[in-house]
Parts: sequence; structure tokens; C-alpha cells
Amino acid sequence: MKFYVTTPIYYVNDRPHIGHVYTTTMADIAARFHRLCGDEVFFLTGTDEHAAKVVDSAAEHGMTPQQWADQNAQAFQETFAKLGITNDDFIRTSQPRHKEKAQQYMAELLKTGDVYLGEYEGWYDAGQEEYLPENKAKEYEFKSPINGKPLVRKREKNYFFRLSQYSDALLKLLEDRPEFVQPDVRRKEVANRIREGLNDIPISRTSEHNWGIRVPGDEAHVIYVWIDALFNYLSAVDNPERRHFWPADVHLIAKDILWFHAVIWPTMLMALKRELPRQVYAHSFWISEGQKMSKSLGNFVDLEKIDRYVADFGLDALRYFLARHGPLGINDSDFSDARFNDVYNAELADKMGNLVNRTLTMIQRYRNGVVPQPNDEALRAVAEKMVSAYREGMGCLDFVGALEALWDFVVRSNQYVEETAPWKLAKDPANTRQLDGVLYNLAESTRLISVLVTPFMPTIAQQVRTQLGVADKLQVFTDEIAWGRLAPGTKVGQIAPLFPKRT
Ligand code: MSP
Repeated sequence: MKFYVTTPIYYVNDRPHIGHVYTTTMADIAARFHRLCGDEVFFLTGTDEHAAKVVDSAAEHGMTPQQWADQNAQAFQETFAKLGITNDDFIRTSQPRHKEKAQQYMAELLKTGDVYLGEYEGWYDAGQEEYLPENKAKEYEFKSPINGKPLVRKREKNYFFRLSQYSDALLKLLEDRPEFVQPDVRRKEVANRIREGLNDIPISRTSEHNWGIRVPGDEAHVIYVWIDALFNYLSAVDNPERRHFWPADVHLIAKDILWFHAVIWPTMLMALKRELPRQVYAHSFWISEGQKMSKSLGNFVDLEKIDRYVADFGLDALRYFLARHGPLGINDSDFSDARFNDVYNAELADKMGNLVNRTLTMIQRYRNGVVPQPNDEALRAVAEKMVSAYREGMGCLDFVGALEALWDFVVRSNQYVEETAPWKLAKDPANTRQLDGVLYNLAESTRLISVLVTPFMPTIAQQVRTQLGVADKLQVFTDEIAWGRLAPGTKVGQIAPLFPKRT
């Protein structure tokens, strides 16, 4: 099977922060999981470069827009590389490969009959490069809901897309394919807003500057940056080697840009007669120490802070925290120092770290470091139940659910240590077989956990496997998750704490 996952392409005007890192890390986890399952994965991220504000900030910095975009796109690329993100490509909308395709799609759109030249007047949110409908503008007191700056009344001559004609098609899509927009709550919000009525939308702007992709055949216009940006998902795979990846399996985004992805993008694709993506998944937002992150508060969990967490706790601990305690569902989530510390100590060090460490230490101590023969299957049924819950979660981006199931199993395995008390069994040779069985079960739990944490904590997973003595590359996922795969006689390696305690 193929699996094509995307992140939003990020504005080059911002420096990368935890929000960008989060979505990209979640996409990375999905990509790694599907690779583990043997799927042919294509994981795309990138930068959105033709925003008008790029021109302004480039000028402020004494650079051309292209230089400014180059510099900032590089910051995103470096950040993702440093964070071990396994994207297969990084698309930039200023690249010729994208521009050519975007022009081709625009030319196709112009021919569909769904586009006309008209005039538009409305409330413009310059920060978001977006017009707000009259009622929304009023609701937000004519200020940007995102950055609080006043909306601007703007009038433009534009090419318009007949979005208004697509209400029924969209509502049918959302009804026939409920998985198209997830979570459910978000789909219902989108459907309600569609029912309030759809206006035609501008898809070009008259260019005051040269920064943007020209509308083919009409040099006075550039393609509206949002349309240009949405095209990236298609342009990146619109070539003979990659065409089979389309349609995308999931566009992972946050709720701020759901409308573009759940309404505008599918109608563009309908007009272009292309297949629709299978899913748009809109997660919620990180806030920071209880407050919304904003420029004015200067409280972004920024790169410097992210680097500090990685240095103090390790990259995998950060990935775990993001996946397990992040805003994947419909609730915002708080990124706080105290919370991170608690999670590190309680879930990583005390639960997973402790299980692995005591298991290996006991095998070392009581069996000379060699995994003994199995005796009973005391943990098999729990393990199998957990694996199926994990797979279900992973299959629908419910990473929280998958990790909860996995951590319940970690807890259960720790309990099993207490119940069977191997240190007591070891005192009497009459218990040899029983102790063998207990130690085997624990070693097998450890192995299984190492397989299943791989998409979340690839480095830690490998450390566990090395310590357990099974460091070779993971094979077929469906075999790896079968209980009892660990060979008796396996020689345990060097034992070291996975998550050194922090105070
Ligand atoms: N360029 C557009 C997207 C075009 S996609 C065809 C854009 N860029 S952005 O740089 O503003 O990125 C928005 C995305 O960044 C969100 O949808 C989300 O993925 C991520 N996040 C930004 N802030 C966030 C939080 N505070 N919390 C979680 N994710 C957030 O919009």
C-alpha cells in the first residue's frame, strides 16, 4: 500500500516554533508507522513563500524576497533535519517545479467555466492573507482573530472561483465520506458554515510587486497565495515517478486553516477533475504555560526553547510528550515546564524506563544475561489486546489512544513484576522453571514495547533493542508484533538507564 502524508507548508516569515514542529512531528510519526508496516510512504512538508508580508519583511531586512525566503526556508529545513524528521521531500512554492505546475493548474481552472473576472470588496486579514466574511469580521470586532490587528477594508479586481456553486457537492462529500474531515466535531463545524452559504472567492490578486506566480495569460495578476499554496500537495507528486501517490491519504493541519483544506481545496480539485484527498485532519493548538502563544506576549515555545528540551531530556522524550499530551483531538493543550517534567519522570523514567531496566537487570542477575525458556503465557492475552488497540489508534491518527494502550501494558507488566516477585522465586531452585517463565514474559514484553514505540521514539526503541540483544533491523511488522517471537538464548547487552531521572 502507498501512504501519502502532508503537513501545511509554513510561512517563511515566521521562525519555526513548537506549532510547526508539532504538526511535522505528528506527520513523521504517521510516516514512520506506515514504513514499519511495509507501506510505500511519501511524506511531504515545505514552505509557503509568496505571501505579501514576505516582500515587506525582506525590504526591512535589506534583502530581496527570494533571499529572505531562502534564508527562512533553510531555517525550517535545518530545524526538521535536526529533529530527525524523515520527510521525503521539502517543497518550496518559489521553486520552478512548483511554479510551472501551479500555472498549469491555474490555466486549467480558467478553462473550466468556474472562474470569472470580477471585483471584490471585503475585510482583509493581512497577517493571514485571508478575507473574512462580513459576519465573521463583525464577530471579531474587525480585528484579526489570529493576531488581533485591525482588518483592512480592501477592494480588488480579481479572478473569482464559483465556490457558491459547490455547497451541495461539499455537503454530500462530508456526509458520504465522514472520514474526509476529522475529528468529527470539526467536520460538523465545517458543514454548518457551508450551510450558512458560500461566497465566490478571489483566486488571484493584482500584483503590486513581482512576488508571486503570474496568472497565465494575464500578467496583471498573480495567483492568490492560498491557492498557490494548496497546489503544493499536488505539484509535488505530479510527475511520472510520484503520480501514484495521489490522492494524499492525509493532510495534517491545525484548525486555523481547516476551511481552506476542507472547502476550498476539494472544490478546486473537483473543478480540476482530480481525485480528492482521503482525509483532512485538523488538530488543535498548543498554548504555552496556560496562555495563548503570541508575538505580543513573546511566549512562543521557540527554537531555543525546543533545543533546550532536547538537550535536557532527549529528542525522543520531546516526541513522546508531543504525541501523548499534545492537541491532536479537539482540545488545546498546554506546553509547560512542570508538565513536561512530570511526564518525563512519571511516564518515561518510572514506567517504561523502570520496566526495561529491572527486566534486563534480573535476567543479568538470575540467568547470567541469557533470556530463558518460556513457561506460561501469562501476559500474552493482555499483549494481544493492547496491540490491537494500538493498531486501531495508529490507523486513525489517534496517537494518544495508541500510546495509552501501550502504557497500560507497561503498567501491567510492572505489576506483573510485583505479583511474581522474581527476587523471591530466585531463592529456591524448585522455582527454576517458574522464574524462567516470568523472566521470559518480561523480556518479551520489553521487546514488544520496543517495536511499538519505534514511530514515537526511534532512538530509544533502538537502545532498548540493543540492551535486550535484538538490535537487528525490524522485520515485517505483523511478525514483530506476534507474542513469543523473542528467541530463548538471546544474550542481553550492556544495560544503561533509558531516561535518567531529572529533578
Ligand atoms: N502557509 C499556511 C499554510 C498553507 S498549507 C497549504 C500557514 N502557515 S503557518 O506557518 O501559519 O502554519 C500554520 C500551521 O502551523 C497550523 O495549521 C499548524 O499546523 C501549525 N501551528 C501553528 N501554530 C500552532 C500551535 N500553537 N499549535 C499547534 N500547531 C500550530 O498557515
